[in-house]
Amino acid sequence: MRIGIIGAGSMAAALGGGWAAAGHEIRIGARNAGAASELAAKIGSGATGGSIAEAAEFGEAVLLALPPSAMDAVLRSVPGGFAGKTLIDCSNAFMPDEAAPEGTLAFVLSEDAVAERISATVPDAHVVKAFNLLAAEIFAADTREFEGRTLGMPYCGDDPAALRLVADLIEDLKFQPIPAGGLHRARYLEATSVFVVGLWFGGQDARAMFPPVEATYAEVD
Ligand SMILES: NC(=O)c1ccc[n+]([C@@H]2O[C@H](COP(=O)([O-])OP(=O)(O)OC[C@H]3O[C@@H](n4cnc5c(N)ncnc54)[C@H](OP(=O)(O)O)[C@@H]3O)[C@@H](O)[C@H]2O)c1
Repeated sequence: MRIGIIGAGSMAAALGGGWAAAGHEIRIGARNAGAASELAAKIGSGATGGSIAEAAEFGEAVLLALPPSAMDAVLRSVPGGFAGKTLIDCSNAFMPDEAAPEGTLAFVLSEDAVAERISATVPDAHVVKAFNLLAAEIFAADTREFEGRTLGMPYCGDDPAALRLVADLIEDLKFQPIPAGGLHRARYLEATSVFVVGLWFGGQDARAMFPPVEATYAEVD
């Protein structure tokens, strides 16, 4: 598949590298086209780099590997737009929690629903939220297995074909896709990320919070 990646930072490198290794065609686009080409050369496997508009046009799926604050202006700057494309949002709108006890670090959301905002900005694109819960280092690592389990990757969106496409891209990176509902639920993924990352930064093991599904009594009465 042709994947355009907008942004040339840590997430572009980690996800782009994984998808290139899985056989996808990658074009990185950044406001500094030189940085995009540099990253493409590092990724290898035929990846190319250039402008943001070029990456947007190239991709059947386009990953937005940008800070939330940059999204609207970047999306509006693309002359050809994103009609019919699968737009993958991996962003997190974190800011420091000013109310955290002194000497500790935690985060709160700087806005409630980035993926929904993106969808409102480019309503003819099919936005899917995914890949926001894990650090770039995990995506770049060579294992998905921890304590005998494959890491799951939740994703939210409204368009069935876009959801299938993203599930395939999740599997290509060797994660277990976890369908997590419509785009109106992406805000919960965003909130989960800020909450869990705050726990991790505070030295708590977020993985210890949840029992396996068999033990949840999750049955409709
Ligand atoms: N890093 C992680 O572990 C991680 C994990 C999950 C989710 N995320 C999310 O993924 C997104 C990307 O994170 P990242 O770690 O890859 O960030 P990053 O390494 O800082 O890279 C950000 C990229 O966005 C570009 N950019 C920033 N402001 C821009 C603007 N106004 N217009 C155009 N391009 C702009 C930067 O270009 P310049 O170099 O020119 O500034 C850079 O290429 C963020 O929303 C983050 O919350 C990150």
